[in-house]
Amino acid sequence: MGKLRAKERREQRRLEIAHLRELPYSPAERYQHPPPPRRLPYRSLTLCLLLRWWSSETVAVVTGASRGIGYEISRQLAVQGLCVVLAARDLDRGCTAADGLRAEGLNVQFRKLDVTHSDSVQEFAKWIGDEYGGLDILVNNAGANFNTGANNSVEFAEEVIATNYLGTKLMIETMIPMMRPSPNGARILNTSSRLGRANGRRNRVGDVALREKLMNDDCLSEELIDGMVANFLRQVKEGTWASNGWPQVFTDYSISKLAVNAYTRLMSRKLANRPGDHKIYINCYCPGWVKTAMTGWEGNSTAEEGADTAVWAVLLPSQLVTSGKFFAERHEISF
Ligand SMILES: NC(=O)c1ccc[n+]([C@@H]2O[C@H](COP(=O)([O-])OP(=O)(O)OC[C@H]3O[C@@H](n4cnc5c(N)ncnc54)[C@H](OP(=O)(O)O)[C@@H]3O)[C@@H](O)[C@H]2O)c1
Repeated sequence: MGKLRAKERREQRRLEIAHLRELPYSPAERYQHPPPPRRLPYRSLTLCLLLRWWSSETVAVVTGASRGIGYEISRQLAVQGLCVVLAARDLDRGCTAADGLRAEGLNVQFRKLDVTHSDSVQEFAKWIGDEYGGLDILVNNAGANFNTGANNSVEFAEEVIATNYLGTKLMIETMIPMMRPSPNGARILNTSSRLGRANGRRNRVGDVALREKLMNDDCLSEELIDGMVANFLRQVKEGTWASNGWPQVFTDYSISKLAVNAYTRLMSRKLANRPGDHKIYINCYCPGWVKTAMTGWEGNSTAEEGADTAVWAVLLPSQLVTSGKFFAERHEISF
C-alpha cells in the first residue's frame, strides 16, 4: 500500500514537473499558456520566467558533461540561451557531444577537464579566464559510482571519493576566483544524492557523534569532512569499514555525497559575507534515480527529467536565489 502511494506521489510530481518544464521563459510567450497551479516560492517558475537575468553572455560550465545528466544540463542551459562550456575528461566523447549540440544551433563549446587532476583543473581555470574572463555558473556534475542493485563493493572507494567529493572541492576552490562579478550573483551547484543525507531514514551514518557534528553548523569544518572521508578510506584499506556504522547502501558513494552536502553548507557560510556583485550562491541537488550509465540504465526518470532541477536551481532569479540548500524536484529537501 505504502509503495503504491509513493508511486502515485512520484507520478503526480512527475506530471507537475513536466507541466512546469513546458512553460516558456520569455514573459511575452508566457501569456499564451494557462496559469500554473499555486506553488511555494522555490517552485514558482512563473516568477522566474518574469525575472530572467541571464543572457547569451552568461557563461555556464558543466563538468562530466559528455553524457547522462551533465549532457542534459548542458543542453537545457544552452536551450535557455546561455553560453555553455561542456567539460569532459574524454576528448572524443566531449567533442562529439558538443558538436551534436552545436548542430542544433546551441552555443556550446567543449573543453577537456578531469576533475581529479589538479593540472587539468588549473589548465581549465586559465583557459576560462583567457577565453571568457571567467564564468557565472558552475555545475559540478562529474561523478563516479561502481555499484548497482544490491552490490556494495568498496573496491573503487578511492576513485569514488576522489571524483565525487575531492574533485568537486577542487573545482570549487579553483573556480571561486574565476567567478565573474554580477548583480545577480554567481552560482555553484553541486550534484549530490539523497543517499548522502546524514539523517536519511534507511542510509544514515551510524556514528551519532559524527552525525551530530556534521549537522551542526558550528562544528562543521573542512577538517571534519576531510577527516571523515580519510577515516573511511583508511578503514577500507584495513578491511574494517563494514562494522563501523557507515551507510549500508552504496557505502563509498553515499559517504562521498554526504561529504559534498556538508561541504556545500560549509562553503555557503564561508561565502556569505562577500560584498554586492561578488556574491556567490552555492547549493546542491539530487537528480532522483535516473536511467543513465551510472545506474545501469535503471531508474524512475530520464536524464532530461533528472537535469531539470539543476537548471531550475542555477537560473533562479536574484529575488529568489538562496544558498546552502539541498534541492530535489524543484523544492528544498532536508540534509
Ligand atoms: N543517475 C542517478 O540516478 C543519479 C542519482 C543521484 C545522483 N547522481 C549524480 O549525477 C551525476 C551525473 O551522473 P549520471 O547519472 O549522469 O552518470 P554518468 O552517465 O555515468 O555520468 C557521469 C559523468 O561523470 C564523468 N566523470 C567521471 N569521472 C570524471 C572525472 N574524473 N573528471 C571529469 N568527468 C568525470 C563521466 O565521464 P566519462 O564519460 O569520461 O566516464 C560521465 O560523463 C553524478 O554526480 C552522479 O553521482 C546520479
